[in-house]
Amino acid sequence: MTVSFRKEPNPNPASKEQLEEIFANPGFGNFFSDHMVTIDWKGTYEDGGEWKNARVHAYGPLTLDPAAAVFHYGQEIFEGIKAYRHSDGSVWTFRIEENAKRLNRSAERLALPQLPEETFIEAVKELVSIDEHWVPSGEGEAYYIRPFMIATEAYLGVRPSHEVSFMVIGSPVGNYFGTPKPVDIWLSENYARAGVGGTGAAKCGGNYAASMIAQLEGEKHGCQQVIFKDPNREEAIEELGGMNVFFVYGKENKIVTPELTGTILEGVTRKSILQLAEDRGMSVEERAITLTQWREGVATGDITEVFACGTAAVIQPIGKLKSAEFEIPNAAGDGENGEVTMAIRDELVGIQTGAVEDRHGWLTKLV
Ligand SMILES: Cc1ncc(COP(=O)(O)O)c(C=O)c1O
Repeated sequence: MTVSFRKEPNPNPASKEQLEEIFANPGFGNFFSDHMVTIDWKGTYEDGGEWKNARVHAYGPLTLDPAAAVFHYGQEIFEGIKAYRHSDGSVWTFRIEENAKRLNRSAERLALPQLPEETFIEAVKELVSIDEHWVPSGEGEAYYIRPFMIATEAYLGVRPSHEVSFMVIGSPVGNYFGTPKPVDIWLSENYARAGVGGTGAAKCGGNYAASMIAQLEGEKHGCQQVIFKDPNREEAIEELGGMNVFFVYGKENKIVTPELTGTILEGVTRKSILQLAEDRGMSVEERAITLTQWREGVATGDITEVFACGTAAVIQPIGKLKSAEFEIPNAAGDGENGEVTMAIRDELVGIQTGAVEDRHGWLTKLV
């Protein structure tokens, strides 16, 4: 399907001064660029329906019927991608086809329509082209792109919506956690974010809604992030509220991450790290890793580093794991960033920003 996008430029774009002010301290997800993309869909899940009315238009509030299904039944999915400014001024994105595919896997789970991958990529290109000057160039900075799909039909019966919109918005961002230093994480014992047969592998808003109370609990205990485990699989570690997790077994030159069981998100960063670790001659394992193995592995010195990963923070060293009953110390040493963690981080960030050769062909030029 080739879609042509109607252009409706924003009559009141941000001024140069406003943009400078935003760039001085972008934070994460605080400011949005002048435009957005919208494509509407009508049909049924079974007949595939039709995408139409693709347009690039001014960023601004939506008008939706209060009965729109998204407000009531949470039929919503999203993606997260970054566009990076390279030193020659060009703008690139990282493994965008993986995000296009994942959006469709999420869509299937939420009974939302499939969006052709090329339309997804085209929509992102359209937005970044028109708002190119919103892509920052400072270290650790990027233009964060948020594609999402919502059920817009005004109908309170419980069934998949017959009307849907796909939209893309974008935000200049700094580094999620600032300069890398270990962050302590809270072990969620009272709340799960996903269960077997649930939506854990989909990137849908409901999963994040379910993780917020645990996040608050973590914050009360001085932790910026929460990690979830599966009590039905010997406390196997799953993932953080918004990141996957890796364990480095330094003596064995090995890296381990929880396998994809259907309850965790298949991260693009996770997949890339597995490849980069293999490229370094490390052995890589996707398998269950239990809380006990974590605790004992750190105590014996077998686990030498633990880190989290995702598009927003890229790679984030993990400090202590805290829970109501116990603490597992930072495997890399108190306050320390692990060596392997930082080496893989540097390589990955280098590829994304054009400083390191893109030997796997992961980058797509947007502008
Ligand atoms: C729950 C969860 N797990 C893992 C990830 C990492 O995925 P990715 O590397 O594709 O950003 C994310 C999001 O970014 C997430 O929200």
